[in-house]
Amino acid sequence: MGCFATGVTIITLDLDGEVHGMTANAFASVSLDPLLVLVCVDHNTKTHAHLHAKKRFGINVLGEDHRAISEYYARPERTHERAEAEAGARFDRTKHGTPMLNGSLAYLECRLHSSQPAGDHTIFIAEVEDVVVRDGDPLLFFKGKYRKVGGDVEK
Ligand SMILES: Cc1cc2nc3c(=O)[nH]c(=O)nc-3n(C[C@H](O)[C@H](O)[C@H](O)COP(=O)(O)O)c2cc1C
Repeated sequence: MGCFATGVTIITLDLDGEVHGMTANAFASVSLDPLLVLVCVDHNTKTHAHLHAKKRFGINVLGEDHRAISEYYARPERTHERAEAEAGARFDRTKHGTPMLNGSLAYLECRLHSSQPAGDHTIFIAEVEDVVVRDGDPLLFFKGKYRKVGGDVEK
C-alpha cells in the first residue's frame, strides 16, 4: 500500500469541549449523490470508540505545510493542550460543534451513515453535510514519507 500515494487528513471530533484528532490517510470518496466518504480506522485506536459513540466528525485535508500536524495527531501520547504549541494546530468550531482545523485545504462535516468491521479496522461511511474548500497544495504520503506535489506530467 505504500506504493499508493495519498493525501493526509485529520479526523476531528468534539469530546466534551476538547478537540480529539487523529491522522488518517485511509480516506476515500464513496458516492456523489448522496455525498458519502469513508475512512478506515484501526480497532485499537481511541478514535474508533469515539466515532461509534459520537456519530459526527470532521475530515480535514492537510496542506503541504502541515507535516507537523500530521505527525502530532499520529502520536499516541499527544494532548489537546499541546497541539498549538507543538504542531501549530488551531481549531474553530462548526455550527455542529465539530472542530475544524484552521488553514486546512478542505473541511468535510460528516455524519455517520454506516460502519462495517473489516479485519482489524472498521470502515466508517459518512454523509457529508457541509464542505469548506481553500486554495493551496496538499501534503502527500508515499512510501512512508511526506511529499509535496511536483510538476505536471508531460504527454
Ligand atoms: C500518515 C499517517 C496515516 C495514518 N492513517 C491511518 C488510518 O487511515 N487509519 C488508522 O486507523 N490509523 C492511521 N494512522 C495511525 C493513527 O494516526 C495513530 O494510530 C493514532 O495514534 C491513533 O490515535 P487514537 O488512538 O487517539 O485514535 C496513520 C498515521 C500516519 C502517520
